[in-house]
Amino acid sequence: MASIEVDISAVPLGAIMTVKWRGKPVFIRHRTPKEIQEATDVPLAQLPDPQTDKARVQKPDWLVVVGICTHLGCVPIGQAGSRGDYDGWFCPCHGSQYDTSGRIRRGPAPKNLEVPAYSFLSDTKLKIG
Ligand code: FES
Repeated sequence: MASIEVDISAVPLGAIMTVKWRGKPVFIRHRTPKEIQEATDVPLAQLPDPQTDKARVQKPDWLVVVGICTHLGCVPIGQAGSRGDYDGWFCPCHGSQYDTSGRIRRGPAPKNLEVPAYSFLSDTKLKIG
């Protein structure tokens, strides 16, 4: 299946860009130092689907995840002010809450948001797929 190239140079710090890949939304989040800290500080024992932040990102500044809730497939909300208790994403369908690494923290979703295959072609260009 096709891969896509995405220019991330215009995504401000703290913002999330959504692109479509293979018919699915993919969230590209330019994380702030605070968001990175939140993602790395949490003890693995507190996570329903334990994964280190390091295992989920290639560069700490950028988180790339498929924007589909692992419960029943809704698209979680990540607009500023609606990011849930863990500063990540909030799923409006049944209340799952994800953190700044896209990991499930509370609610019925069983798994973390999926990290798609991707690579950096340069500092400002990402290839997804
Ligand atoms: Fe997201 Fe149910 S689909 S919580």
